[in-house]
Amino acid sequence: MAAAPIRIDVPTPSRAYSVTIGDGTIDRLGQTLDEVRTAARRFVVSSPVVWRLHGEQMARVAGGAEPILVPDGERYKQLATVSRIYDALVRVNADRASTLITFGGGVIGDMAGFAAATYLRGVALVHVPTTLLAQVDSAIGGKVGVNHPLGKNMIGSFYQPHAVLIDPLVLATLPRREFRAGLYEVIKYGMTSSRPLFDRVAGERKPIFARAPEALTAIIAESCRIKASVVADDEREAGPRRILNFGHTAGHAIEAVTKYRRFRHGEAVGYGMLVAAALARARGALADQDRQALADLVASLGPLPPVSDLSATQMLEAMQHDKKMVDGRLHFVLPTAIGATAIVDDVNEKELRAALKQVGFAK
Ligand SMILES: NC(=O)c1ccc[n+]([C@@H]2O[C@H](COP(=O)([O-])OP(=O)(O)OC[C@H]3O[C@@H](n4cnc5c(N)ncnc54)[C@H](O)[C@@H]3O)[C@@H](O)[C@H]2O)c1
Ligand SMILES: [Zn+2]
Repeated sequence: MAAAPIRIDVPTPSRAYSVTIGDGTIDRLGQTLDEVRTAARRFVVSSPVVWRLHGEQMARVAGGAEPILVPDGERYKQLATVSRIYDALVRVNADRASTLITFGGGVIGDMAGFAAATYLRGVALVHVPTTLLAQVDSAIGGKVGVNHPLGKNMIGSFYQPHAVLIDPLVLATLPRREFRAGLYEVIKYGMTSSRPLFDRVAGERKPIFARAPEALTAIIAESCRIKASVVADDEREAGPRRILNFGHTAGHAIEAVTKYRRFRHGEAVGYGMLVAAALARARGALADQDRQALADLVASLGPLPPVSDLSATQMLEAMQHDKKMVDGRLHFVLPTAIGATAIVDDVNEKELRAALKQVGFAK
């Protein structure tokens, strides 16, 4: 018999909702929608890839409505694709009493979430994330939006969903690289907030990679708990929520200098965490043993794309453009132990260059 689903509450100021995690939670969609009393007309927004793999199951539980299918590559995460969602909604006369169900990875969730936030000034939104990254990160917290040709996630809003349903069984079809990319974000939560989570990923690598539902449920639930508590305390990322940017200062720079082509986001975060740990170590803020444990865990997931052809100079430049610049200062989340961080804004160029070099970047 399957274990009872896990429920995590996300009490943000703008909306309180819950995340339900467990095998077969998708089959409880209808029941969940009734419980949260979302509007009766339901529209599923998904991608052709996800729909081909899991559409039958979703169609069954969502009441057989025609899905709105839009492409989900990062390059389609733009206003033109959101417009296609609006078009489909207008065509069927979707009114305020409608609910959008997003069924896909972070790209679908962010785009359809933005559509839900803006169509008729807001209709109900339910996320059913299908990538590990979306399950542990993007489906919770209400950030929705799209890219601008000049920058990632530049257009968007905060719009909390009414419910999030996470079914680890859908991850069975996820390509290995996408799966690994999500695991780096799980490690991130372990490093910032939970030594037990970090140890669990290290200790259960095998069942996790085999995608054994119990192993997945445990790490997804713990990650969601951390994200939920951080988001509830700081819905709009004014302060505490910034710890979740651990690994993202250098990570975003890696993505930018490689034009978002070489790395999956999570992979770039994998390197970014190593850079932050090297910085912290050099400052004496992190024990070398802990830095090494992180490096070992990241390495144990498999090889990352190379960075030896990327220069520290390029990286520094990209970091200057990052959204994490506040008042002209670069904010860095540094680990102080496994499960603890400190935010600093006084990292200088010299130490940053040294950390990048240590992790494998060129001069
Ligand atoms: N809103 C937030 O707080 C937040 C947080 C982190 C990331 N993001 C955003 O999330 C996006 C990345 O999300 P992602 O990594 O999920 O990428 P994605 O949505 O592009 O999905 C990755 C790939 O996996 C495929 N896929 C999805 N589910 C599948 C399944 N079950 N089986 C097989 N294939 C499947 C998709 O078709 C796609 O090709 C980025 O745009 C990022 O900015 C948002
Ligand atoms: Zn991330």
